[in-house]
Amino acid sequence: MLLSGRFSMRKLKTNKGNLPLHIAIIPDGNGRWANRRGMPRSVGHREGSRVLRDVVLYCSEIGIKYVTVYAFSTENWKRPKSEVDSLMGLIYEFLEKAEEELSGSNIRIRVIGDLQALSGELQKEIPRVMELTRSNTGLVLNIALNYGGRSEIARAARIIAKDAIEGRTVIDDINEELISSKLYTSGIPDPDLLIRTAGEKRISNFLLWQCAYSEMWYTDVLWPDFSKKDLLKAIRSYQKRKRKFGGI
Ligand code: FPP
Repeated sequence: MLLSGRFSMRKLKTNKGNLPLHIAIIPDGNGRWANRRGMPRSVGHREGSRVLRDVVLYCSEIGIKYVTVYAFSTENWKRPKSEVDSLMGLIYEFLEKAEEELSGSNIRIRVIGDLQALSGELQKEIPRVMELTRSNTGLVLNIALNYGGRSEIARAARIIAKDAIEGRTVIDDINEELISSKLYTSGIPDPDLLIRTAGEKRISNFLLWQCAYSEMWYTDVLWPDFSKKDLLKAIRSYQKRKRKFGGI
């Protein structure tokens, strides 16, 4: 399914050469969106899931190569069980319907995070969808699920320490490249642009290593209200920035 969209490609054409390769998204504000309408938080998450699908399809249309979305953090288990269950249910549904809803878009889906704590159903569904879309050559959608940046770095440290003890790695060879290669995002370029909605200006344990030089874009818009227009605003803001990576 492709989006027709109210926002034509023509508007982007002038600057298409400088598109971010990788956009990371913290889709915040689902709960507030629902509260303001006197509805249960689960309704906000459902709307958020729909918006995510549209945003991903639109990113694919305009030529973004990678999108990584923070769907469920290692800290989100602290929420009431009913909310955790509803989020997990929506994520399952998103994966189950991906075939149909993203069909024709050539999108590859990957799920990153500590997947062992997830339900048996999700642990079966995740490899199914990853396998199904493995040979797709379009946009790569990384869904961060039970993901935490610190725990990801600790996991990489454990892998490297084990390799060193068992003689596969020499201590002097431990460098940034090696650490990157042991993260869930191995092989994926670092995000160029990080978008966070709903007015919060925090990284909240998301892609801590990978966002070292990402450009941040924040908006007060709640995720379920996030539109293609907002996405284009973020991209245009990114395109105007001078990235120095510590240089001058
Ligand atoms: C933050 O809003 C959002 C989340 C913790 C979950 C993000 C989930 C989705 C966008 C939908 C499901 C995802 C997929 C991959 C289908 P919040 O609940 O913290 O909102 P609040 O700050 O207003 O309470």
